[in-house]
Formats: sequence, C-alpha cells, structure tokens
Amino acid sequence: MKLAWITDIHLNFVDFDTKQKFYESLFVNAIDAIAISGDIDEALTLSNTLIEMTRHILKPIYFVLGNHDYYRGSVTGLRNEIKALCKKTSQLHWLPESQEIELTKSTALIGEDCWADGRYGDYASSQVVLNDSHMIKELYQGNKLGKYQLLEVMQKFADFDANRLKGNLELAVSKQEIEKVIVLIHVPPFKESCMYEGKISGDDYLPFFSSKATGDVLLEVAKKNPKIEFLVLCGHTHSKSYYNPLSNLVVKAGISEYRYPKIQEIIEV
Ligand SMILES: [Fe+2]
Repeated sequence: MKLAWITDIHLNFVDFDTKQKFYESLFVNAIDAIAISGDIDEALTLSNTLIEMTRHILKPIYFVLGNHDYYRGSVTGLRNEIKALCKKTSQLHWLPESQEIELTKSTALIGEDCWADGRYGDYASSQVVLNDSHMIKELYQGNKLGKYQLLEVMQKFADFDANRLKGNLELAVSKQEIEKVIVLIHVPPFKESCMYEGKISGDDYLPFFSSKATGDVLLEVAKKNPKIEFLVLCGHTHSKSYYNPLSNLVVKAGISEYRYPKIQEIIEV
C-alpha cells in the first residue's frame, strides 16, 4: 500500500485553489491512505477542515495534532471534539485514540501528538516566547503565572503523551508478525531532528522544538526490540532532517512552508 506522509500544512493559511491542487495531488498519486504529523489547521476550524478533507480524499486519514491545531482553543476541549468527530466519521483516525493501526500484517502505524518539554537546550536562559503560550488556553494560563509554571504545563502534556505512546508502542511490538512500526508524532524527539539552516537549532529554541520525553521512550522500546524497524515521522520545525540514532530507529522531520501544502513522501508499506 501507498501511504502519503504530510506535515504542517496549516490549511487555515491556504487559498481555495491551492487546497484543490493539493487534494488533486493525492488523487493523482493514487495513495491508499494519508498520515499527517500535525499542524493541519487551528482549533476553531479544524473539524470543518477534516470533514472537507474526507470529502476530497476518500481514503483513510490518520493524523496527530500539532501545537497550531490547538491555537484559539484548549487542549482538553479540542481533544474531546476530535475524539467525537472521529467516532462518527469512519475515515478519520486521531491516532492517540486508535492505539494501533495494522497497515499490513507486518507493519503497524501508531501516533501521538507529543509536546515540547524544555528538556533539551537551555530553558533557563532562553528568551524565546512562542505564540503557543498566548494562543493555547492551558499554556497561557501557565504563562500568566511565570516561566517555570509554563514549563510545568509543557512537561505535563509531554509526559502524558510520551507515556501513552510507550503503551501503544509496546502493544504494537507485541504482535507476532510485526516487522516495522511507523510512528507519527508532531514534535521532534531528538535535538538532531531539529535543524535550522543546516545546523541543529540553538539552545534557546531547542526547549520549544523538541521532546526528550518522547525520544527516551523511542530509544527504550527500539533497544528492547532490535529485530523491529521503527520509522518516526515528525514535523513542527518545518525543516527537513534525518537522524538514525540506532540501527533500527530512523527519525525524519518534514520540510514545509506556509501556504504551500504538499506531500512529504510516499511510503510503500
Ligand atoms: Fe507547523
């Protein structure tokens, strides 16, 4: 089967004609399913956009949410809304709730939003303030109290997601015939996956670009299962990267540009 990987398409910035061309590109490439590693739209319009996508794409849509998807909304509120939408729309699969998707007998797909956790780089000295801390309810409430309260909220989300990812990974690798697991996440799990102009992002941005909690889970599960291949697909930084920390673990981050949605890669599984 042909799985089209897409990331950071930010359809709220995209005009009608460009969106149509993007949907047509999926049709032309005769894909069997799409996997989106987050930042599809923003909270107020995400559900409508997902419904629009189902009407044009007519294939299963597997996705996780990125930080931008929560903009102008709350994490708890949007997750409840998307869970309910997926329940009544069989084509839509928010992966954290889907546990494990059997793409083929030997290949599983799992996913989790995953949050930046401030543990790589230098959070204490960083002067960076992302829009996240003004645009997402739980984060701006944390931010009102101060820098370390914001960090606490970020880490609470990151650790919750990493923990659930671990459970779903363990479930996927427990299947007898499994040879490969594709893991869809939004935030890069290693600093080597956060590139900016050909170099690893600086210590000021890394706390907001990466999730150490996720990386630790991936390393642990991949080390315990050396015969299984793990392919991790992420977004968030909008910069392409390829990192291969273990012989059975590859992490790819996608490149993207506002207003120009495109297929990142077609993966044959
Ligand atoms: Fe993005």
